[in-house]
Amino acid sequence: MLNFSPSCERNQAVILAEMMGLFIAGQQILEIGSFSGQHAIHFSTNIPDIKWQSSDVEENILALSQNLAEAELNNCPSPLILDVAQKHHWPGTPYDLIFTANTLHIMSWEHVVKLFENITNVCKKGSLLCIYGPFKYQGQYTSASNANFQLWLQSRDVKSGIRDFEKVNELAIQQGFKFLSDKNMPANNQLLTWQMV
Ligand SMILES: C[S@@+](CC[C@H](N)C(=O)[O-])C[C@H]1O[C@@H](n2cnc3c(N)ncnc32)[C@H](O)[C@@H]1O
Repeated sequence: MLNFSPSCERNQAVILAEMMGLFIAGQQILEIGSFSGQHAIHFSTNIPDIKWQSSDVEENILALSQNLAEAELNNCPSPLILDVAQKHHWPGTPYDLIFTANTLHIMSWEHVVKLFENITNVCKKGSLLCIYGPFKYQGQYTSASNANFQLWLQSRDVKSGIRDFEKVNELAIQQGFKFLSDKNMPANNQLLTWQMV
């Protein structure tokens, strides 16, 4: 597998277990920032009656396409080029669920804002939004290891960084989402869920 991520391998089973109750046969899922496609492959293998549309920025598409082609899954089509900041990249069709893991702390805050500005292109009433990753609460890290992770993120890209839950929630609410839940996940991560009302 190209771009294999050990952390993705470790967390995919717990994310799937936590999200299992959200999936309904026939659902169309859009994943943002799929990278290697490990989540796409894991979810669509385990839930064959959903359709999982992966995506990522252009530079990662070749590896992602190759990994998905090798997996030979009927419910996991070729990935879309989707840079969240590029309005014209966003598909014009609504999805039932939008999933993204470990992306908000990698992209700049400006791009997080763009993600929320553009996400309504792929939403309809009832669409779910699930965001997995580390978050801060009232400016505080949830662990010393996340505080160290922040230092590492900033050393490689000053625009990256662990986001404040409250600010992300505000962006979601501005776009018409209702906050549903925040689950504590292993390794100091969260699984945040909203629904378009
Ligand atoms: C740490 S990787 C996470 C990969 C995978 N989702 C996982 O959980 O292992 C961060 C991903 O965010 C993507 N990303 C960064 N900026 C982005 C943007 N502006 N639009 C879409 N994806 C972006 C990267 O290309 C990369 O695939």
